[in-house]
Amino acid sequence: MHLVSVMMLFHCFSGKNMTIPARVLITSALPYINGVKHLGNLIGSMLPADVYARFSRSVGRETLFICATDEHGTPAELAALEAGQSVRDYCTHWHVIQKEHGERFGLSWDWFGRSSSPQNRELTQYFARELWKNGYLEVRKTRQVYSVAEKRFLPDRYVIGTCPHCGYDRARGDQCENCTRVLDPADLINPRSAVSGSPEIEIRESAHLFLKQSEFAERIRTWIDSHKGDWPNLVTSIAEKWLDEGLQDRGITRDLEWGVPVPDDIANGELKGKVFYVWFDAPIEYIAATKEWADATGKGDLWRDWWTERGGNDPRAVRYVEFMAKDNVPFHTVGFPCTLFGVNETLPEGEKWKVVDRLKGFNWLTYYGGKFSTSSKRGVFMDTALDLLPADYWRYYLLANAPESADSSFTWEHFAGTVNKDLADVLGNFVNRVTKFCVSRFDGKVPDAIYGEEEQALIAELDGRITTYRGFLEAMEFRKALGELRAIWVVGNEYLTRAAPWTHFKTDPARAAVGVRMGLHLVHLFGHLAAPIIPSYAKVIHAAILPAPDLIPWPDETMAGFLDQLKPGHVIHPPEVLFAKITDEQVEEWKTRFGGE
Ligand code: 2FM
Ligand code: ZN
Repeated sequence: MHLVSVMMLFHCFSGKNMTIPARVLITSALPYINGVKHLGNLIGSMLPADVYARFSRSVGRETLFICATDEHGTPAELAALEAGQSVRDYCTHWHVIQKEHGERFGLSWDWFGRSSSPQNRELTQYFARELWKNGYLEVRKTRQVYSVAEKRFLPDRYVIGTCPHCGYDRARGDQCENCTRVLDPADLINPRSAVSGSPEIEIRESAHLFLKQSEFAERIRTWIDSHKGDWPNLVTSIAEKWLDEGLQDRGITRDLEWGVPVPDDIANGELKGKVFYVWFDAPIEYIAATKEWADATGKGDLWRDWWTERGGNDPRAVRYVEFMAKDNVPFHTVGFPCTLFGVNETLPEGEKWKVVDRLKGFNWLTYYGGKFSTSSKRGVFMDTALDLLPADYWRYYLLANAPESADSSFTWEHFAGTVNKDLADVLGNFVNRVTKFCVSRFDGKVPDAIYGEEEQALIAELDGRITTYRGFLEAMEFRKALGELRAIWVVGNEYLTRAAPWTHFKTDPARAAVGVRMGLHLVHLFGHLAAPIIPSYAKVIHAAILPAPDLIPWPDETMAGFLDQLKPGHVIHPPEVLFAKITDEQVEEWKTRFGGE
């Protein structure tokens, strides 16, 4: 092993609040299988997870970025029925499409798995068996709605009828949309199946497995308390609300066909033919997808290493980071940890399953203040977005307006304004202006020049700003990170305006050379800094100056070194106009097409 990689392995990077191990495991909430995801889904977990993964790799950490489609549950079964396909075929179809959309958006997953994989079946059954052995599962009789016509049990929300409180005639069995009262399907007047409309509804008894979450209340609270300060307030407050309301035991099986079957050796086969609830097996797929990755890439048992809790200074220690929207927070701060704590109890040190170290939660991205809606096709979806503009336009906009401390609203006007100002006027114009001028006046070669006071001041300012930018990425504060990145571009523009090589060229070419030399170095620097955010354009920008490596590293050098590294006479390659401006006509057209206001 090279000395450098040995050092990399043992070197610990110090973040704001804690030392960060050199290995980082990143998962984003698993997109549900039923159809094309919208921009809200993208910014709510997958995109920020990708930026953090790219950033981690750029600073030299061994990084594993895992995602998958979440495929079980009633909505998939019903959507397949409607599409006239088997559930498995339906899921395969959408898995392929979602993977392609993610890749076209530059999501740099190491693996994009499927919760219907054999690996997930095996691991889900393993976790359930261990919980059973440890006494955390019990069989309880429940009353479930059964549709005689469809020969199937229906989840509460698939039963509709008249609300006994307000008389609304399409109230769902779990809650009345009109008066918001929580309901039991048995309360409904004239109940019928929401799927077929059939009124032949019965309440039948059915045995299910319950996870005794109530027994974990104190452990979960202590653990959540320990993360106050290093997790967003949004996350800890949602978890606390659940704890304050009292942790309820939770049914983790369902009367469905599509899902991970409950094994016969649990509860003496009493639950034969039932499957685990989708929210039980979905988070286990984070682990299973890691095994899918290892199996597919010949890594054998190495997947376990990513998921094993390590103490002290063990160089194999992993920092595990999860990304998700706020509705997923309870399942990741309560449900999944209960599973892991319950199983870990009887495992020896060094074999315990890893629980999340940092949990980044997001509020909602709205579409003109209302909901993006998959069912009513309101808003912009990943496929149509890419028909309009390249992925990096969307990446930049979404990250610059990430719904972190509050919900944020997508509007076409705001989108166009941000792209036109930040990407076209500030970044694109800078790159095009400097490189074109270098070609027209300096033969397309890096000029020889010595920096003066103005340049030294710029170098000092950039040293500070880049440290700040890195700190925000490290802290997963994406809005702030993008604000700082933009400020760095602005500083470059202001420098160039002051240096004005085009004014000085005729009278003082040596002075103009200083501005161009610095300008070209700044283009190179921008290629490095923008790489986690707008990876495709960052490559083009970098390649204008130097061939771009696949992984553009973080500029770790001091700016004095980084901004003076190009050899005089080195030939540059100016790109075409980088970012096209969005016109008012396009905004109007898109508003009409996608619905606005
Ligand atoms: O909210 C959702 O879309 C879920 N499919 C997220 C699952 S995250 C994880 F637990 F799998
Ligand atoms: Zn470079």
